[in-house]
Amino acid sequence: AEQNRELRERLMQLKKERNAIILAHYYQRDEIQEVADFRGDSFLLAQKAASTDADVIVFCGVHFMGESAKILAPHKTVLVPDERAGCPMADMVNPIGLRELKAKHPNAKVVTYINSSADVKAETDICCTSANAVKVVNSVDADEVIWCPDKNLGHYVSQHTDKKMIIWEGYCNTHDMLTIKDVEEMRAKYPNAQFVVHPECRPEVVEMADFVGSTTGILKYCRESSHDEFIVGTEDGTGYQLRLDSPDKKFHFASKFLVCPNMKVNNLKKVVKALETMKPEIYVPQDVADKARLSLERMLLVK
Ligand code: 13P
Ligand code: SF4
Repeated sequence: AEQNRELRERLMQLKKERNAIILAHYYQRDEIQEVADFRGDSFLLAQKAASTDADVIVFCGVHFMGESAKILAPHKTVLVPDERAGCPMADMVNPIGLRELKAKHPNAKVVTYINSSADVKAETDICCTSANAVKVVNSVDADEVIWCPDKNLGHYVSQHTDKKMIIWEGYCNTHDMLTIKDVEEMRAKYPNAQFVVHPECRPEVVEMADFVGSTTGILKYCRESSHDEFIVGTEDGTGYQLRLDSPDKKFHFASKFLVCPNMKVNNLKKVVKALETMKPEIYVPQDVADKARLSLERMLLVK
């Protein structure tokens, strides 16, 4: 606790010196969410990165998030606490494979989940996050959509659109681990709880839910609901904001495996070190960034 207090004081000082903002995803460790200037899901964080007037963004999340921030704010310095914090789902699609699929479906538009590399975004018509996926797919000017990389979110979206969806086979190791059995056991244990779930979970698990939504969707639902007990089917870092919003409600995570090890690579010490050393810095080649930016900016314009 004493060490954390010193780290927080040092961080405050560095933030002022560098005119820096700390952005943190809801899946980050509590010690990072506590010091963040802004907490959000992938969508809110991208929006914030695009609009902040800070000179330096310390992006506490996984690599594709820092990369998206750099693409949207090319003249700012974007730091991450640890370059090795990646997203295995983002690594399940590459530009070569995506180009091959585009060649097979020349009339399709490509909608890519923001959980993807800058190279893949550069091959994309429009990006989306879990918060706006259905809206983005429905906004596309084509009957056919190539969707990558999350097959579970893709399946969920396909149930809420008339577009023909060609779905890539990627998935999130963390959310995909949640099973029907896990949820059944939790329901037996907490019969009065509502089950809320992120659409990165398997279709058969999503079907069991009382509410399906992105991180922000889940937070809003639980905050506004008249129920006071929830079984939560998403990453356990979300507990920080859930409990902050509703200290009197009970939240039970649906499985002890709902922890993204990549998100947890970051810690407070690394955040301070990043601002001290101004490293590791995110860099995206300009030609890639220029193409990828279009796909992100189109997403930000979807109403
Ligand atoms: P959201 O931030 O869109 O809820 O996505 C969840 C996720 O897995 C981020 O990596
Ligand atoms: Fe990637 Fe899943 Fe971790 Fe999100 S929770 S960063 S999708 S592995």
